[in-house]
Amino acid sequence: MAEKNERMLDKALAEAMIRKSSEYLDFNRNVRESARVLEDSLSAFITKGGEDLSTNRLLNQTKDVIALSNNPLHTFHMLQNIRHYDDATFIHCLNVAIICHSFGKWLKLPGKDLDVLTLAGILHDVGKMWIPEEIIKKPGSLTDEEYSVIKMHPTRGYHILEPMQVDVRIKNVALMHHERKDGSGYPSGLRGDEIDEFARIVAIIDNYDAMTSARIYRGALCPFEVIEVLEEEGDTKFDTKYMSAFLTWVTESYVGSNVILSDGRKGRIIRNNSCKSLPVVETEDGEVDLSKEKDLLIKSIPDC
Ligand SMILES: [Fe+2]
Repeated sequence: MAEKNERMLDKALAEAMIRKSSEYLDFNRNVRESARVLEDSLSAFITKGGEDLSTNRLLNQTKDVIALSNNPLHTFHMLQNIRHYDDATFIHCLNVAIICHSFGKWLKLPGKDLDVLTLAGILHDVGKMWIPEEIIKKPGSLTDEEYSVIKMHPTRGYHILEPMQVDVRIKNVALMHHERKDGSGYPSGLRGDEIDEFARIVAIIDNYDAMTSARIYRGALCPFEVIEVLEEEGDTKFDTKYMSAFLTWVTESYVGSNVILSDGRKGRIIRNNSCKSLPVVETEDGEVDLSKEKDLLIKSIPDC
């Protein structure tokens, strides 16, 4: 019990420090501004019935946020903090776009493709604009009928973007980001290579972001819990090559981070392992290779 209280205090202190920092205050202001611009642009586009959506403006706003921090890990941390009191769809879209940009850069995508992937991240859930707010924000579980309405958002999104002069991959991402390589996804049950390459990337990032964010029915999961789940189960549903690259990139981003282990010890990640969810951690007792320990894992990252 005392240990649990101590952990909660550590987490609260870390959150308070992040919220007080000028980097976070700037970041928070810019994220909110970007979310507002995104929301305004999309609403204007819809009410005007198909006039051009200012994709340049959306891209520039997102790039402004990305430029606030050189370290994608900081971006993750600060977005996680914003989430504690604002988990809107727009913040999710912006977060997916930022992760798309950082991951795409790590993949060494050419500039034009990087912009396309970033915009695809912003616009992947544009079809949700058509879903009644009471369903999107419903606190309890959804009825079958409500869930079938939610599942219409990829097709809706594609129809919004279809007449626009934007890269076809952005349209395909809106349509295909819930398709899964084993055919279990929607709306069309596409398999493997039938799914657009960028939609396969955004599907991974969308899923990761949803799992690491707080939900009404559960708190945010520790990124390493999510990495473990994705390592075990990700291969059946997601592109093998991109999933492996994504997990490498995420875990590399966390090298140097402070962590708390499941036995309560504090430490710092010093390097990765082939088993991505079990890195090597430096503790006051020396180096601990989690891949060689039984029942010992990363319980939390106090700074996020
Ligand atoms: Fe979606």
